[in-house]
Amino acid sequence: MTPRIIPVELFDIVVFGATGDLSQRKLLPALFHRDLQGQIPPGARIIGSSRRAMTDAEFRAFAKASVEAHVPVTERPDDVMARFLERLSYVAAEASKEDGWKDLEKVLAEGADRIRVHYLAVGPDLFGPICEKLGSHNLVTPLTRVVVEKPLGKSGASARALNASIGKVFAEPQIYRIDHYLGKETVQNLMALRFANALFEPVWNSGHVDHVQITVAETLGVEGRAGYYDTAGALRDMVQNHMLQLLCLVAMEPPTSTAADALRDEKLKVLKALKPVTGDAVNNLSVRGQYRAGAANGGAVKGYLDELGSGTSTTETFVALKAEIANWRWANVPFYLRTGKRLPSRVSEIVVTFKPIPHSVFDGSAGPIAPNRLVIRLQPDEGVKLWLMIKDPGPGGMRLSHVPLDMSFADAFGVRNPDAYERLIMDVVRGSQTLFMRRDEVEAAWDWIDPILESWGASSETPKGYTSGTWGPSAAVALIERDGRTWYEDQDI
Ligand code: BG6
Repeated sequence: MTPRIIPVELFDIVVFGATGDLSQRKLLPALFHRDLQGQIPPGARIIGSSRRAMTDAEFRAFAKASVEAHVPVTERPDDVMARFLERLSYVAAEASKEDGWKDLEKVLAEGADRIRVHYLAVGPDLFGPICEKLGSHNLVTPLTRVVVEKPLGKSGASARALNASIGKVFAEPQIYRIDHYLGKETVQNLMALRFANALFEPVWNSGHVDHVQITVAETLGVEGRAGYYDTAGALRDMVQNHMLQLLCLVAMEPPTSTAADALRDEKLKVLKALKPVTGDAVNNLSVRGQYRAGAANGGAVKGYLDELGSGTSTTETFVALKAEIANWRWANVPFYLRTGKRLPSRVSEIVVTFKPIPHSVFDGSAGPIAPNRLVIRLQPDEGVKLWLMIKDPGPGGMRLSHVPLDMSFADAFGVRNPDAYERLIMDVVRGSQTLFMRRDEVEAAWDWIDPILESWGASSETPKGYTSGTWGPSAAVALIERDGRTWYEDQDI
């Protein structure tokens, strides 16, 4: 299948934090890929900015090295590389000082009537100060958009304060809060699966669904990000945003259209219907863990505290939760969430388990009848599996087996799956907010997370240790097994 390229209008993008990790690993390679695909119009400019003094030539060399490190050699022909580098320039500017902002004004004045994107690839403490400078230097035109990265705060209160400081300069339709999970191919496929097929929606409710599991497992540890991670932990880093967004897409009512607010209104209703987990319930409904030394990615690895170089942190690197959505569609259907670092494999999936059949017409020799399961695999091997019962082929009586109808997107379509950032950056340019979080969504997600954090903070218990390369503390297994259910494993019976 040939990828379809949606043309975009002429734009300038200013990347603040241009020499940082996100810019290097994701943004510059993503922009290069879009250039390769022919989506970036002639004359569009990419302006790097950070505190560091750098010439245009030095920034171009930096960007070239970033692209070479993250884009396979077969996908970077010399002419495209030359065209891409030609678009780049650099302006040093510091959020807390006046230096550099006049220079940026001068550069941007040349394209005053273009679409303009200010991408804040910096820590959240700089969101307010940078926005203020953008405002006071008249760098915000009616066609200007601002992109902010997570973490959007550390609690509901700090998220509200951040949103307020961005909101002083930008109107809500100009603000793009990135959750890169929304840009993943299979996450969007969830919408297609639910709303472009007649098959699922009639059974997508508590009458037919037994429970839902959402797992986002990583084999990596905190790597070079311990400084940030130790102030966040898995609940803030993964659950408040990525996992709750996935839960919303599974649980929301059909939106009236795919327009940004139609979708975001429905997601918000789900967040507001989440049953609060407070007080003593936090202990019963959540498990937090921290990885110890063990084995991962084929070798011995250190524990979290050793990586951190401190013996005392109580930051969780694993969390499992049982959530419930108090509304008509989902009453009494548990949503089990788990995410962690240093788990046995990298896998992100959503598993919808349907209720058992009401009555079996088969005798015991047919074997057990397992429930239907729909598994939506986000990564790796994006695809969908629908587990069904069928008759074992051949003579020998009626014997039943549980087998998957298995669709791997890579096999079915044979196209490169673009990185989530490619799609999201171009959505910003196109002015499409569908895959971005609205202010009230972010705040509602925090409202559900805050009491869990508070209860953990007040507790004398610390996260349970788990050996790297295992599926987290045994309490996470108990969390689901005491309800008579098990975490899904691919080799399901
Ligand atoms: C980020 C988290 O948002 O998502 C990281 O801050 C995490 O801790 C990453 O590793 C996972 O993203 P992906 O796309 O690799 O699943």
